[in-house]
Amino acid sequence: MDSQSVRPLLDDICAAMEQREDRGRVADYIPELAGIDPDQFGISICLADGQQLSAGDATTGFSVQSVSKVFTLAIALGRYGSRFWDRVGREPSTLVFNSVQELETRDGIPPNPFVNSGAIVTTDSLLVGATPKETLAEIIQFVRQAASDDDIYMDPEVAASENASGHRNRSLAHFLRACGNLRHDCDLTLGTYFHHCALEMTCEQLARTGRFLAGLHPSGHLIQPGHIRSINALMMTCGHYNGSGEFAYRVGIPGKSGVGGGILAIVPRRASIAVWSPGLDQFGNSLRGTAALAKLTHLLRLSVFSVS
Ligand code: DON
Repeated sequence: MDSQSVRPLLDDICAAMEQREDRGRVADYIPELAGIDPDQFGISICLADGQQLSAGDATTGFSVQSVSKVFTLAIALGRYGSRFWDRVGREPSTLVFNSVQELETRDGIPPNPFVNSGAIVTTDSLLVGATPKETLAEIIQFVRQAASDDDIYMDPEVAASENASGHRNRSLAHFLRACGNLRHDCDLTLGTYFHHCALEMTCEQLARTGRFLAGLHPSGHLIQPGHIRSINALMMTCGHYNGSGEFAYRVGIPGKSGVGGGILAIVPRRASIAVWSPGLDQFGNSLRGTAALAKLTHLLRLSVFSVS
């Protein structure tokens, strides 16, 4: 896979996505995200030779939301190693990403770090020995280093909007706390969680941030290779919630979605890919983003399950 073969495909994919009638539904449970134009589509890919190729709205910023859970997991694994898994499982979920029922049936141990309850526990673990401000600074510093770009910020208005409407997440936090699986005050942990979800990035920045998961960061491994393997496994099996089977079937590489419509997808040792289109499918994953990745992995035979 080189830039010459990829370049025309990106333009073709952009044109095909523009023609698709069905754009899905923009997330409206976070009021600040409800008004986003669903016609936008961007894609960017970082290759093993250091080149980066982009097409469409790849330099427009968007709210990465749950894609940020990959970065908090990377920091938490670096800090706690395998002890991290005492508090969070590694199994796919069967219900919606903010399901209280799923947490209740598991006695307060979230199924995995990518559903909301699991990410709230991850954020809680990062708050040990640090203030929310310090924790957010650590997350943003990690992301900027991964992206080789200091121009990445959290959008306080998106965080405030989610804080004002985040009753589902509040119920998850309180349930976790009742089960003894949240160390800090619910509002303190949630405030930190809402802020890291409010990280704003372009496809170009997100694809560069993902390089460390493909083993392609220019300064070598940002985290232990064993942890990279763990995160990619989790992205493959749980990165699209109860739509993860569908994503593996159609796309076939590790990926993490966010309700802002972004997806970070990884081809270990070969590429880091970011797509963005705000309309979502029934699982809360980008509809056109998934379709674009399915087309790309099909054309380049990138699915890990492909034998030809
Ligand atoms: O907590 C939430 O609901 C959002 N901040 C993040 C959820 C999300 O991105 C789900 N992804 N598809």
